[in-house]
Amino acid sequence: MTSLDVATATLDVAAVRADFPLLQRRVNGHPLVYLDSAATSQKPQQVLDAVDNYYRLHNANVHRGVHTIGNEATDIFEGARTRVARFIDAPAEGLVLLRNTTEALNLVASSYARELLSPGDRIVLTEMEHHSNLVPWQLAAERAGLELAFLRVNDDGTLDLSGLDELLAPPTKLVSLSHQSNVLGTVVPLRAVIDAAHERDVLVCVDAAQSVPHMPVSVRDLDCDFLAFSGHKMCAPMGAGVLWARPELLQRMPPFLGGGSMILRVSLEKSTWSTVPHKFEAGTPDVGAAAGLAAACDYFDAIGMDRVHAHEQQLTSHLLSLLEEMDGIDVYGPHDMSARGGAVSFNVTDVHAHDVGTILDRQGVAVRAGHHCCQPLMKRLGVAATARASVYLYNTHEEIDALGDALAEVRRIFR
Ligand SMILES: Cc1ncc(COP(=O)(O)O)c(C=O)c1O
Repeated sequence: MTSLDVATATLDVAAVRADFPLLQRRVNGHPLVYLDSAATSQKPQQVLDAVDNYYRLHNANVHRGVHTIGNEATDIFEGARTRVARFIDAPAEGLVLLRNTTEALNLVASSYARELLSPGDRIVLTEMEHHSNLVPWQLAAERAGLELAFLRVNDDGTLDLSGLDELLAPPTKLVSLSHQSNVLGTVVPLRAVIDAAHERDVLVCVDAAQSVPHMPVSVRDLDCDFLAFSGHKMCAPMGAGVLWARPELLQRMPPFLGGGSMILRVSLEKSTWSTVPHKFEAGTPDVGAAAGLAAACDYFDAIGMDRVHAHEQQLTSHLLSLLEEMDGIDVYGPHDMSARGGAVSFNVTDVHAHDVGTILDRQGVAVRAGHHCCQPLMKRLGVAATARASVYLYNTHEEIDALGDALAEVRRIFR
Protein backbone atom coordinates (compact mmCIF):
# COMPACT_ATOMS: atom_id res chain seq x y z
CA MET A 1 0.00 0.00 0.00
CA THR A 2 1.35 3.45 -0.91
CA SER A 3 0.83 6.47 1.34
CA LEU A 4 -1.79 7.59 -1.18
CA ASP A 5 -3.80 4.40 -0.59
CA VAL A 6 -3.47 4.73 3.17
CA ALA A 7 -4.75 8.30 3.10
CA THR A 8 -7.63 7.51 0.76
CA ALA A 9 -8.64 4.34 2.52
CA THR A 10 -9.56 6.44 5.53
CA LEU A 11 -11.55 9.12 3.67
CA ASP A 12 -15.15 8.02 4.16
CA VAL A 13 -16.74 9.66 1.10
CA ALA A 14 -20.26 8.45 1.98
CA ALA A 15 -19.99 10.16 5.37
CA VAL A 16 -18.59 13.30 3.74
CA ARG A 17 -21.45 13.39 1.22
CA ALA A 18 -24.01 13.09 4.02
CA ASP A 19 -22.71 16.43 5.34
CA PHE A 20 -23.62 18.27 2.13
CA PRO A 21 -27.40 18.86 1.80
CA LEU A 22 -27.22 20.13 -1.77
CA LEU A 23 -25.56 16.92 -2.98
CA GLN A 24 -28.71 15.01 -2.07
CA ARG A 25 -30.81 16.78 -4.71
CA ARG A 26 -31.74 15.68 -8.20
CA VAL A 27 -31.34 17.71 -11.39
CA ASN A 28 -33.34 17.11 -14.56
CA GLY A 29 -34.58 13.80 -13.17
CA HIS A 30 -31.07 12.50 -12.33
CA PRO A 31 -29.04 12.46 -9.13
CA LEU A 32 -26.84 15.57 -9.21
CA VAL A 33 -23.23 14.89 -10.21
CA TYR A 34 -21.49 18.10 -9.19
CA LEU A 35 -18.17 18.44 -11.03
CA ASP A 36 -17.84 22.23 -10.86
CA SER A 37 -16.10 22.76 -7.53
CA ALA A 38 -13.28 24.77 -9.11
CA ALA A 39 -15.92 27.46 -9.72
CA THR A 40 -17.44 27.13 -6.28
CA SER A 41 -17.72 24.29 -3.80
CA GLN A 42 -20.80 23.00 -2.01
CA LYS A 43 -21.19 23.68 1.73
CA PRO A 44 -21.40 21.14 4.54
CA GLN A 45 -24.02 21.38 7.29
CA GLN A 46 -21.29 22.33 9.79
CA VAL A 47 -20.58 25.52 7.80
CA LEU A 48 -24.27 26.29 7.30
CA ASP A 49 -24.78 25.86 11.06
CA ALA A 50 -21.93 28.26 11.88
CA VAL A 51 -23.45 30.97 9.66
CA ASP A 52 -26.92 30.30 11.05
CA ASN A 53 -25.61 30.39 14.62
CA TYR A 54 -23.93 33.73 14.01
CA TYR A 55 -27.08 35.36 12.61
CA ARG A 56 -29.44 33.76 15.15
CA LEU A 57 -27.44 34.51 18.27
CA HIS A 58 -24.51 36.89 17.76
CA ASN A 59 -25.27 39.30 14.93
CA ALA A 60 -23.96 42.80 15.64
CA ASN A 61 -21.41 45.10 14.08
CA VAL A 62 -17.79 44.39 14.96
CA HIS A 63 -14.97 46.37 16.57
CA ARG A 64 -17.12 49.25 17.82
CA GLY A 65 -19.56 47.73 20.27
CA VAL A 66 -19.54 48.24 23.98
CA HIS A 67 -22.41 45.81 24.27
CA THR A 68 -22.25 42.06 24.76
CA ILE A 69 -23.32 40.80 21.36
CA GLY A 70 -21.08 43.37 19.67
CA ASN A 71 -18.18 41.88 21.56
CA GLU A 72 -19.32 38.36 20.68
CA ALA A 73 -19.45 39.27 16.98
CA THR A 74 -15.95 40.78 17.25
CA ASP A 75 -14.68 37.62 18.93
CA ILE A 76 -16.19 35.50 16.14
CA PHE A 77 -14.60 37.68 13.45
CA GLU A 78 -11.18 37.89 15.11
CA GLY A 79 -11.41 34.20 16.00
CA ALA A 80 -11.95 33.47 12.30
CA ARG A 81 -8.76 35.40 11.49
CA THR A 82 -6.62 33.31 13.83
CA ARG A 83 -8.37 30.09 12.76
CA VAL A 84 -7.75 30.72 9.06
CA ALA A 85 -4.14 31.78 9.76
CA ARG A 86 -3.59 28.47 11.56
CA PHE A 87 -5.12 26.59 8.62
CA ILE A 88 -2.53 28.03 6.22
CA ASP A 89 0.25 27.99 8.84
CA ALA A 90 0.81 31.76 8.77
CA PRO A 91 1.07 34.57 11.35
CA ALA A 92 -2.44 36.01 11.95
CA GLU A 93 -1.11 39.58 11.93
CA GLY A 94 -0.71 39.33 8.15
CA LEU A 95 -4.17 37.92 7.48
CA VAL A 96 -6.60 40.39 5.89
CA LEU A 97 -10.21 39.19 5.69
CA LEU A 98 -11.76 40.35 2.42
CA ARG A 99 -14.46 39.12 0.02
CA ASN A 100 -12.54 36.89 -2.40
CA THR A 101 -9.29 36.22 -4.28
CA THR A 102 -10.09 38.95 -6.80
CA GLU A 103 -10.31 41.61 -4.11
CA ALA A 104 -7.12 40.33 -2.47
CA LEU A 105 -5.12 40.49 -5.71
CA ASN A 106 -6.52 43.95 -6.51
CA LEU A 107 -5.36 45.06 -3.08
CA VAL A 108 -1.78 43.93 -3.76
CA ALA A 109 -1.70 45.32 -7.31
CA SER A 110 -3.19 48.61 -6.21
CA SER A 111 -1.60 49.22 -2.85
CA TYR A 112 1.79 47.55 -3.27
CA ALA A 113 2.56 47.60 -6.97
CA ARG A 114 0.95 50.84 -8.00
CA GLU A 115 2.01 52.87 -4.98
CA LEU A 116 5.36 51.38 -3.91
CA LEU A 117 6.93 50.42 -7.24
CA SER A 118 8.48 52.96 -9.61
CA PRO A 119 7.97 53.58 -13.32
CA GLY A 120 10.01 51.05 -15.31
CA ASP A 121 9.81 48.32 -12.62
CA ARG A 122 8.77 44.95 -13.96
CA ILE A 123 6.14 42.47 -12.76
CA VAL A 124 6.26 38.86 -14.00
CA LEU A 125 3.02 36.94 -14.53
CA THR A 126 2.23 33.76 -16.46
CA GLU A 127 0.24 32.95 -19.57
CA MET A 128 -2.15 30.76 -17.57
CA GLU A 129 -3.38 33.32 -15.03
CA HIS A 130 -7.05 33.80 -14.22
CA HIS A 131 -8.16 37.31 -15.23
CA SER A 132 -8.14 38.12 -11.49
CA ASN A 133 -4.37 37.76 -11.52
CA LEU A 134 -3.90 39.65 -14.78
CA VAL A 135 -6.31 42.56 -15.11
CA PRO A 136 -5.40 44.19 -11.72
CA TRP A 137 -1.72 44.18 -12.80
CA GLN A 138 -2.61 45.67 -16.17
CA LEU A 139 -4.45 48.47 -14.36
CA ALA A 140 -1.53 49.00 -11.97
CA ALA A 141 1.00 48.93 -14.82
CA GLU A 142 -0.93 51.48 -16.80
CA ARG A 143 -1.28 53.87 -13.88
CA ALA A 144 2.27 53.53 -12.50
CA GLY A 145 4.27 52.98 -15.70
CA LEU A 146 5.22 49.38 -14.82
CA GLU A 147 6.28 46.74 -17.31
CA LEU A 148 4.56 43.33 -17.46
CA ALA A 149 6.37 40.17 -18.63
CA PHE A 150 5.10 36.61 -18.88
CA LEU A 151 6.23 33.04 -18.28
CA ARG A 152 4.81 30.86 -21.05
CA VAL A 153 3.01 27.53 -21.00
CA ASN A 154 4.61 24.41 -22.53
CA ASP A 155 2.68 22.21 -24.97
CA ASP A 156 2.12 19.64 -22.21
CA GLY A 157 0.43 22.29 -20.03
CA THR A 158 3.29 22.74 -17.56
CA LEU A 159 4.75 26.17 -16.93
CA ASP A 160 7.88 26.94 -18.96
CA LEU A 161 10.40 27.99 -16.32
CA SER A 162 13.40 27.99 -18.68
CA GLY A 163 13.34 31.79 -18.93
CA LEU A 164 12.76 32.39 -15.22
CA ASP A 165 16.32 33.45 -14.33
CA GLU A 166 16.36 36.01 -17.10
CA LEU A 167 12.94 37.34 -16.14
CA LEU A 168 13.96 37.70 -12.49
CA ALA A 169 16.80 40.07 -13.36
CA PRO A 170 16.35 43.83 -12.75
CA PRO A 171 14.04 45.68 -13.17
CA THR A 172 11.75 42.82 -11.95
CA LYS A 173 10.32 43.53 -8.49
CA LEU A 174 7.49 41.04 -8.17
CA VAL A 175 6.23 37.71 -9.58
CA SER A 176 2.52 36.91 -9.27
CA LEU A 177 1.33 33.45 -10.27
CA SER A 178 -1.24 30.74 -9.61
CA HIS A 179 -0.27 27.79 -7.50
CA GLN A 180 -2.67 25.60 -9.50
CA SER A 181 -4.25 26.49 -12.85
CA ASN A 182 -8.04 26.54 -12.83
CA VAL A 183 -8.07 25.40 -16.48
CA LEU A 184 -5.17 22.95 -16.89
CA GLY A 185 -4.91 21.72 -13.31
CA THR A 186 -1.16 22.39 -13.57
CA VAL A 187 0.51 22.66 -10.17
CA VAL A 188 3.47 25.02 -10.31
CA PRO A 189 6.70 24.09 -8.44
CA LEU A 190 6.21 27.16 -6.31
CA ARG A 191 8.93 26.72 -3.75
CA ALA A 192 11.58 26.64 -6.51
CA VAL A 193 10.14 29.81 -8.08
CA ILE A 194 10.00 31.56 -4.71
CA ASP A 195 13.58 30.60 -3.79
CA ALA A 196 14.86 31.80 -7.17
CA ALA A 197 12.92 35.06 -6.82
CA HIS A 198 14.10 35.75 -3.29
CA GLU A 199 17.73 35.24 -4.34
CA ARG A 200 17.17 38.28 -6.57
CA ASP A 201 15.19 40.23 -3.93
CA VAL A 202 12.04 39.77 -5.99
CA LEU A 203 8.74 39.35 -4.09
CA VAL A 204 6.25 36.57 -4.89
CA CYS A 205 2.47 36.82 -4.78
CA VAL A 206 0.61 33.49 -4.96
CA ASP A 207 -2.92 33.09 -6.33
CA ALA A 208 -3.87 30.11 -4.18
CA ALA A 209 -7.56 30.08 -5.18
CA GLN A 210 -7.16 26.53 -6.54
CA SER A 211 -4.56 25.21 -4.09
CA VAL A 212 -5.55 26.10 -0.51
CA PRO A 213 -8.93 24.30 -0.99
CA HIS A 214 -7.30 21.16 -2.38
CA MET A 215 -3.94 20.43 -0.73
CA PRO A 216 -2.04 21.20 2.46
CA VAL A 217 -0.56 24.71 2.04
CA SER A 218 1.90 26.16 4.55
CA VAL A 219 2.78 29.83 4.11
CA ARG A 220 5.79 29.30 6.37
CA ASP A 221 7.11 26.46 4.18
CA LEU A 222 6.38 28.26 0.91
CA ASP A 223 7.98 31.45 2.25
CA CYS A 224 5.82 33.54 -0.13
CA ASP A 225 5.24 37.28 0.36
CA PHE A 226 1.54 37.46 -0.56
CA LEU A 227 -1.06 34.68 -0.83
CA ALA A 228 -4.71 35.05 -1.87
CA PHE A 229 -7.64 32.63 -1.83
CA SER A 230 -11.45 32.48 -1.65
CA GLY A 231 -13.49 30.79 1.07
CA HIS A 232 -16.30 29.83 -1.29
CA LYS A 233 -14.02 27.41 -3.15
CA MET A 234 -13.23 25.58 0.12
CA CYS A 235 -16.72 24.82 1.43
CA ALA A 236 -17.17 28.23 3.11
CA PRO A 237 -19.80 30.82 2.14
CA MET A 238 -19.37 33.31 -0.67
CA GLY A 239 -18.14 36.63 0.69
CA ALA A 240 -15.13 35.51 2.74
CA GLY A 241 -11.77 35.80 1.01
CA VAL A 242 -8.24 36.05 2.30
CA LEU A 243 -5.09 37.98 1.61
CA TRP A 244 -2.11 36.91 3.66
CA ALA A 245 0.89 39.24 3.38
CA ARG A 246 4.12 39.63 5.30
CA PRO A 247 3.16 42.03 8.10
CA GLU A 248 6.20 44.25 7.35
CA LEU A 249 4.92 44.68 3.78
CA LEU A 250 1.41 45.51 5.00
CA GLN A 251 2.97 48.17 7.28
CA ARG A 252 4.56 49.88 4.30
CA MET A 253 1.54 49.62 2.00
CA PRO A 254 -0.97 52.47 1.81
CA PRO A 255 -4.65 51.63 2.44
CA PHE A 256 -6.64 50.12 -0.42
CA LEU A 257 -10.11 51.41 0.51
CA GLY A 258 -10.83 54.22 2.95
CA GLY A 259 -13.68 54.46 5.45
CA GLY A 260 -14.78 53.18 8.82
CA SER A 261 -12.72 50.66 10.83
CA MET A 262 -9.42 51.28 9.03
CA ILE A 263 -8.51 54.60 10.66
CA LEU A 264 -6.80 55.73 13.84
CA ARG A 265 -7.72 59.44 13.74
CA VAL A 266 -9.65 61.52 11.26
CA SER A 267 -9.78 65.30 10.92
CA LEU A 268 -11.49 67.20 8.14
CA GLU A 269 -8.17 67.51 6.32
CA LYS A 270 -6.31 64.29 7.04
CA SER A 271 -6.45 60.81 8.51
CA THR A 272 -4.09 58.29 10.06
CA TRP A 273 -4.44 54.55 9.78
CA SER A 274 -5.24 51.73 12.10
CA THR A 275 -2.71 48.95 12.68
CA VAL A 276 -2.37 46.04 10.22
CA PRO A 277 -4.33 44.09 9.16
CA HIS A 278 -7.26 46.38 10.09
CA LYS A 279 -5.86 49.16 7.90
CA PHE A 280 -7.03 47.06 4.92
CA GLU A 281 -10.50 46.20 6.20
CA ALA A 282 -12.59 49.31 5.56
CA GLY A 283 -16.31 49.11 6.31
CA THR A 284 -18.48 46.40 7.82
CA PRO A 285 -17.06 42.95 7.06
CA ASP A 286 -19.05 39.80 6.24
CA VAL A 287 -18.88 38.33 9.74
CA GLY A 288 -21.27 35.48 8.95
CA ALA A 289 -19.10 34.38 6.02
CA ALA A 290 -15.99 34.64 8.21
CA ALA A 291 -17.69 32.40 10.81
CA GLY A 292 -18.44 29.94 8.01
CA LEU A 293 -14.84 30.07 6.79
CA ALA A 294 -13.56 29.25 10.29
CA ALA A 295 -16.00 26.31 10.41
CA ALA A 296 -14.72 25.14 7.00
CA CYS A 297 -11.16 25.17 8.39
CA ASP A 298 -12.35 23.01 11.32
CA TYR A 299 -14.09 20.69 8.87
CA PHE A 300 -10.99 20.22 6.72
CA ASP A 301 -8.62 19.84 9.64
CA ALA A 302 -10.83 17.09 11.06
CA ILE A 303 -10.59 15.22 7.74
CA GLY A 304 -6.99 16.17 6.90
CA MET A 305 -6.00 18.07 3.76
CA ASP A 306 -3.58 15.28 2.83
CA ARG A 307 -6.54 12.91 2.61
CA VAL A 308 -8.58 15.40 0.59
CA HIS A 309 -5.66 15.75 -1.80
CA ALA A 310 -5.04 12.00 -2.11
CA HIS A 311 -8.75 11.38 -2.82
CA GLU A 312 -8.78 14.05 -5.52
CA GLN A 313 -5.63 12.62 -7.10
CA GLN A 314 -7.27 9.20 -7.38
CA LEU A 315 -10.45 10.64 -8.89
CA THR A 316 -8.47 12.79 -11.34
CA SER A 317 -6.35 9.86 -12.45
CA HIS A 318 -9.55 7.86 -13.08
CA LEU A 319 -11.08 10.80 -14.98
CA LEU A 320 -8.00 11.25 -17.18
CA SER A 321 -7.89 7.53 -18.06
CA LEU A 322 -11.58 7.58 -18.91
CA LEU A 323 -11.23 10.64 -21.17
CA GLU A 324 -8.12 9.25 -22.84
CA GLU A 325 -9.89 5.98 -23.64
CA MET A 326 -12.77 7.78 -25.38
CA ASP A 327 -12.49 8.66 -29.08
CA GLY A 328 -12.73 12.28 -30.15
CA ILE A 329 -11.84 13.95 -26.86
CA ASP A 330 -8.93 16.38 -26.46
CA VAL A 331 -7.66 16.77 -22.91
CA TYR A 332 -5.62 19.87 -21.99
CA GLY A 333 -3.04 20.03 -19.22
CA PRO A 334 -0.44 17.62 -17.82
CA HIS A 335 -1.23 13.90 -17.77
CA ASP A 336 1.44 13.23 -15.15
CA MET A 337 -0.41 13.24 -11.80
CA SER A 338 2.64 14.60 -9.96
CA ALA A 339 2.32 17.84 -12.00
CA ARG A 340 -1.38 18.45 -11.64
CA GLY A 341 -4.53 18.61 -9.54
CA GLY A 342 -8.22 18.00 -10.10
CA ALA A 343 -9.38 20.62 -12.65
CA VAL A 344 -9.57 18.82 -16.01
CA SER A 345 -10.33 20.70 -19.25
CA PHE A 346 -11.35 18.93 -22.42
CA ASN A 347 -13.19 19.33 -25.70
CA VAL A 348 -15.27 16.90 -27.72
CA THR A 349 -14.21 17.07 -31.39
CA ASP A 350 -16.49 19.33 -33.44
CA VAL A 351 -18.81 20.07 -30.50
CA HIS A 352 -18.83 23.46 -28.78
CA ALA A 353 -18.03 23.28 -25.08
CA HIS A 354 -21.35 24.98 -24.26
CA ASP A 355 -23.24 22.24 -26.11
CA VAL A 356 -21.24 19.64 -24.20
CA GLY A 357 -22.11 21.35 -20.90
CA THR A 358 -25.80 21.61 -21.79
CA ILE A 359 -26.13 17.94 -22.77
CA LEU A 360 -24.27 16.83 -19.65
CA ASP A 361 -26.60 18.97 -17.55
CA ARG A 362 -29.62 17.18 -19.02
CA GLN A 363 -28.17 14.05 -17.44
CA GLY A 364 -27.60 15.74 -14.09
CA VAL A 365 -23.86 16.27 -14.62
CA ALA A 366 -22.69 19.81 -13.79
CA VAL A 367 -19.46 20.91 -15.47
CA ARG A 368 -18.29 24.38 -16.51
CA ALA A 369 -17.92 25.48 -20.13
CA GLY A 370 -16.31 28.62 -21.49
CA HIS A 371 -13.01 30.47 -21.25
CA HIS A 372 -12.88 30.10 -17.44
CA CYS A 373 -11.71 33.74 -17.10
CA CYS A 374 -8.48 32.73 -18.90
CA GLN A 375 -8.79 34.19 -22.40
CA PRO A 376 -5.00 34.46 -23.00
CA LEU A 377 -4.63 30.77 -22.07
CA MET A 378 -7.47 29.84 -24.47
CA LYS A 379 -5.51 31.66 -27.17
CA ARG A 380 -2.38 29.68 -26.27
CA LEU A 381 -4.37 26.43 -26.49
CA GLY A 382 -5.87 27.54 -29.80
CA VAL A 383 -9.48 27.12 -28.64
CA ALA A 384 -12.34 29.50 -27.86
CA ALA A 385 -13.55 27.48 -24.90
CA THR A 386 -13.23 24.18 -23.05
CA ALA A 387 -15.48 22.04 -20.89
CA ARG A 388 -14.03 21.58 -17.42
CA ALA A 389 -14.77 18.90 -14.85
CA SER A 390 -13.34 19.56 -11.41
CA VAL A 391 -13.39 17.15 -8.48
CA TYR A 392 -13.53 17.62 -4.72
CA LEU A 393 -13.59 15.62 -1.52
CA TYR A 394 -17.27 14.67 -1.95
CA ASN A 395 -16.99 13.22 -5.48
CA THR A 396 -16.94 9.48 -6.15
CA HIS A 397 -15.56 7.12 -8.79
CA GLU A 398 -19.17 6.36 -9.77
CA GLU A 399 -19.72 10.05 -10.52
CA ILE A 400 -16.71 10.06 -12.84
CA ASP A 401 -18.23 7.04 -14.59
CA ALA A 402 -21.54 8.95 -14.85
CA LEU A 403 -19.65 11.76 -16.60
CA GLY A 404 -18.21 9.15 -18.99
CA ASP A 405 -21.71 7.82 -19.79
CA ALA A 406 -23.04 11.35 -20.30
CA LEU A 407 -20.13 12.14 -22.65
CA ALA A 408 -20.91 9.01 -24.66
CA GLU A 409 -24.41 10.50 -25.09
CA VAL A 410 -22.85 13.76 -26.37
CA ARG A 411 -20.88 11.77 -28.93
CA ARG A 412 -24.00 9.81 -29.93
CA ILE A 413 -26.05 13.01 -30.46
CA PHE A 414 -23.36 14.69 -32.57
CA ARG A 415 -22.32 11.62 -34.54
C1 LIG B 1 -6.96 30.52 -10.10
C2 LIG B 1 -8.07 31.48 -9.76
N1 LIG B 1 -7.77 32.71 -9.38
C3 LIG B 1 -8.71 33.61 -9.04
C4 LIG B 1 -10.04 33.28 -9.07
C5 LIG B 1 -11.06 34.30 -8.68
O1 LIG B 1 -11.75 33.88 -7.55
P1 LIG B 1 -12.95 34.77 -6.98
O2 LIG B 1 -13.96 34.87 -8.07
O3 LIG B 1 -13.44 33.99 -5.81
O4 LIG B 1 -12.38 36.09 -6.63
C6 LIG B 1 -10.41 32.00 -9.48
C7 LIG B 1 -11.83 31.63 -9.59
O5 LIG B 1 -12.21 30.72 -10.30
C8 LIG B 1 -9.41 31.07 -9.82
O6 LIG B 1 -9.70 29.82 -10.21
